[in-house]
Amino acid sequence: MNRLSRLVFSSVGSKYVMALTGLGLMIFVIAHMSGNLLIYFGKDALNAYAHGLMEHPVLLWSARTGLLAIFLIHLVFALRTWQENESARPIHYVHENTIQASWASRHMMLTGVVILLFVLYHLLHFTFGIFDPEHFKYVLEPKEGDVAGMVIAGFQQPLISASYILAQIFLGLHLWHGGSSWLQHLGWNGRGYDAVVNHVGAVVALSVVVGNCSIPLVILMGWIY
Ligand code: HEM
Repeated sequence: MNRLSRLVFSSVGSKYVMALTGLGLMIFVIAHMSGNLLIYFGKDALNAYAHGLMEHPVLLWSARTGLLAIFLIHLVFALRTWQENESARPIHYVHENTIQASWASRHMMLTGVVILLFVLYHLLHFTFGIFDPEHFKYVLEPKEGDVAGMVIAGFQQPLISASYILAQIFLGLHLWHGGSSWLQHLGWNGRGYDAVVNHVGAVVALSVVVGNCSIPLVILMGWIY
């Protein structure tokens, strides 16, 4: 192992990698939500945004490749950290000493696995059209390019909407802790910014949950059709 890989795989290095990849994923989630919220400006606004992305295939595929790489690195380092923590704590105490740790911070692995399953389901739904293939036709013939129509028809089904809303709660819990801990791992706490560091996760988590859940909810209520 050379010096760089020793540094990256050290416990401090792993925390930096988790923090930076977590930041990358958080930026993606906020950017993706902002794009999806264009549905409030009408179907054409969301479709124009989706078509805009498609019109720049080099940029789109570079972003997709980068996102996938960041996601996989985050996952591998999360598994390593979890494994290390487990082997450092062979005895599972009946009364765990978790006065300081929140539920979200103690269950990052669980919420992370649910997010992974959600992303796979979501890709099979809106990107590959395997779930709900009938409405995927909106992006093919005869209503070519109607991404907004596909989203609306998808969320008009209560079960699909409920599954998205449930997943956003797990995403919110993950962001609640992760959204603050990446700053702590980069050493931003204790420098007079503690109020910001401690609250940024909660603010990001609440914004993402409210923003993402609002879309299936307003569609279910028939306010967007
Ligand atoms: C209500 C919430 C959401 C809506 C309405 C939504 C909508 C969409 C749509 C329509 C697409 C396909 C875009 C296209 O092919 O033109 C898509 C792709 C995608 N979404 Fe979401 N999404 C939501 C939440 C999320 C969340 C929470 C995540 C991640 C945690 C996520 C991750 C992705 C990824 C990775 C892709 C593939 C991007 C690509 O192919 O370039 N989405 N989403």
